[in-house]
Amino acid sequence: MTKDEGQDSRIQGVQDSSRAGSGILDSSTPRPFSPSAPNPKPEGALRVLFLGDVCAEPGRKAVEQELAGLRQRLSVDFVIVNGENAAAGYGITPKLADELLRAGVGCITTGDHAYDRKEVWEYLGTEPRILRPLNFPPQAPGRGYGVYDCRLAIGDLAGAEGTEGASGQGKVQKAEGKMADAEQAADQTTNVKVAVINLQGRVFMKPLDCPFRRVLPVLDEIRRETQVVFVDIHAEATAEKIAMSWYLDGRVSAVLGSHTHVQTADETILAGGTAFICDVGMCGSFDSVLGMSKDLSLRRMVEMVPVRLHSATGDVRLNGVWVDVEVSTGRALAIGRLSEPVALSANQTAAG
Ligand SMILES: [Fe+2]
Ligand SMILES: [Fe+2]
Repeated sequence: MTKDEGQDSRIQGVQDSSRAGSGILDSSTPRPFSPSAPNPKPEGALRVLFLGDVCAEPGRKAVEQELAGLRQRLSVDFVIVNGENAAAGYGITPKLADELLRAGVGCITTGDHAYDRKEVWEYLGTEPRILRPLNFPPQAPGRGYGVYDCRLAIGDLAGAEGTEGASGQGKVQKAEGKMADAEQAADQTTNVKVAVINLQGRVFMKPLDCPFRRVLPVLDEIRRETQVVFVDIHAEATAEKIAMSWYLDGRVSAVLGSHTHVQTADETILAGGTAFICDVGMCGSFDSVLGMSKDLSLRRMVEMVPVRLHSATGDVRLNGVWVDVEVSTGRALAIGRLSEPVALSANQTAAG
């Protein structure tokens, strides 16, 4: 997909109106809500689910408990989650990352909490399915992008071009999706490569390298392998995220915001064919302040006492978006939000 392509086919709202489909959410829908299954996927499309910051044990357990069913219900082909708060709200450990990957996550992105847990530093350099923001200094452990294999039913690609014969090479890592009956269906699937780039904003955040300047050379490299490119822009300021979406419009499939833990209702597909939302939200407890204890958060803000926060437990939800991408071009076809209430099973309710 080039920046010029699609300029004459402006897409209004959240779906290319020339492509019939369902599941587009009315932005006035009260939260939480479960999306009606957005089926069928458009012809030649790949559906990617991106879940917002997984916060502490309630967020992890919600993902692990619900993801297989969610994938099946929404016909999801590939899953990305932001895991920067998985370890009690602060960072992620190798063990917790492995658990998310085993649950069917294909790529874990992070952000300003990437290095909170020292035990993850080496893991960031050895496990290709976890990313830290690309615009950290090059010497910082880990990588800022990855290209992953995703098995897609050949029937889904009818009419798509340029995907047959794609092979996993170099740093390509097999996505650990729990594809139902994968072995049996192996001869009916083909490989599609999904690239994920993790960026971090600089407004009201650490003064990292410029994310705008760092992303373009990486895009040149990725395009040799795939047109399907997802960007997690982990940033505080909506203006910076919106600016990034315009900067990358027509260059990537989706620019999806994370970090604030609050889902925004501005999902759209831009003129050049890039899906965008300022923030996909959080997976964790919503009876909280951004996933953490209300009482302790209030002490910090009302009394200005530097108490250590711990995670909250009530009103657990999964927040995220699904995005349909035309495999042959990388253009986004549709985007929809989800805010899914989750009743954790009895042995999955402890905080931490
Ligand atoms: Fe963050
Ligand atoms: Fe976060």
